[in-house]
Amino acid sequence: MNILLIGSGGREHALAWKLAQSPSCTMLYAAPGNPGIAEEADCISLDVSDHSAVVDFCKAEAIGLVVIGPEAPLVDGLADSLSNADIPAFGPSAKAAQLEGSKGFTKDLCARANIPTGGYVRTTSLYDANKALTRFSAPYVLKADGLAAGKGVVIAATLEEAEAALSDMFGGQFGEAGAEVVIEEFLGGEEASFFAITDGTHVLPFGTAQDHKQVGEGDVGPNTGGMGAYSPAPVLTQGLQARVIEEIIQPTVDTMRAEGMPYSGVLYAGLMLTATGPQLIEYNCRFGDPECQVLMTRFEGDLAAVMLACAKGELASVEAGFAQETALTVVMCARGYPGTPEKGGRVDLGTSQEGGAKVFHAGTKLADGALVANGGRVLNVTASGANVTEAKAAAYEAVAKVDFVSGFYRSDIGWKEVAREAG
Ligand code: AMP
Ligand code: GLY
Repeated sequence: MNILLIGSGGREHALAWKLAQSPSCTMLYAAPGNPGIAEEADCISLDVSDHSAVVDFCKAEAIGLVVIGPEAPLVDGLADSLSNADIPAFGPSAKAAQLEGSKGFTKDLCARANIPTGGYVRTTSLYDANKALTRFSAPYVLKADGLAAGKGVVIAATLEEAEAALSDMFGGQFGEAGAEVVIEEFLGGEEASFFAITDGTHVLPFGTAQDHKQVGEGDVGPNTGGMGAYSPAPVLTQGLQARVIEEIIQPTVDTMRAEGMPYSGVLYAGLMLTATGPQLIEYNCRFGDPECQVLMTRFEGDLAAVMLACAKGELASVEAGFAQETALTVVMCARGYPGTPEKGGRVDLGTSQEGGAKVFHAGTKLADGALVANGGRVLNVTASGANVTEAKAAAYEAVAKVDFVSGFYRSDIGWKEVAREAG
């Protein structure tokens, strides 16, 4: 089967790498791709927001599966346009993608399905939002309802900070995404991610991971898209995973189906492991980035076959296997990130991949034949080991062999788990 992969980041490089290894994949195309993806796929330029252009390409190249990496085209209904043209697509419909596209939608769904999550209020004016604040206590959690490229969440330590943040949000800081603001209860605990693939009925558990959202070592400083991750996440024990499926994932899938918007694709649950059990912080309608890089490093099997079965509603007929080993990825960023990253810095991978590590390209491009930085998160240096401590050592050994003078990275990815492993 011929496959078209949509996207251009480290997540999509990891997907391209696994799809290219799938026995059921004949030709792999990527739109737009990146220099790393180009080693696995034919990169093509295609305006992904022009759905009829995507459909035309799929018909011309006999595409049997489209894998949609990022959230924006999903929220924009690309999967709907493809399925209307009888082209199987991995990823949810626009209605189902509201689980990521609208925080208020997800909170209301949790309320209807009795899914454990923090208390909340949806507000559409600064006046109502300020009034609602009095029902919460510090720290205040404020979220722009819509997609805000991971930047729409403010945790305010004081009432004054919360009021100022609300004023910015309703003042247009996040554009349309902030026309509605969700105020929610602060949940304490450790965060972890759980992934499941579902065809709307059947749920296939697809691994666990922990990310490092903050830019600075020891988890300080502004939030980023993710500075590094590892999988599996030992804090999500088998017992907790069973609870996540029973109390959060399955009721979500069942309610979405019952309400006429079946969810098909990967469901990524951001969880807080609280004293009373796992609670949902948020859903994403796509793989995490960089969590996907560590999941794909561990995945064993025919990824294209699993995704096609999902797209066709036949997920019960396939299985997913993962290596026991831990995979860990370190994100190498361009100076300035998460503010304005420096573009054009030279990147040389050297011998970094010779000891078994894999470097996924997240934000690179070729300039006059040389690899240069072309984004905030530039490389995802990924390696495996028997546990987090060993995977971390292997990943940083590879990082040391990368020459990226204008880049930086956190040197403590996995620190919480490494401390636990040291006992
Ligand atoms: P989100 O974009 O929804 O993942 O939120 C970004 C980050 O804010 C999360 O990874 C959490 O660290 C934090 N966060 C979001 N919601 C809550 C909450 N209700 N309680 C505590 N922390 C939260
Ligand atoms: N790494 C966090 C995310 O993909 O949303």
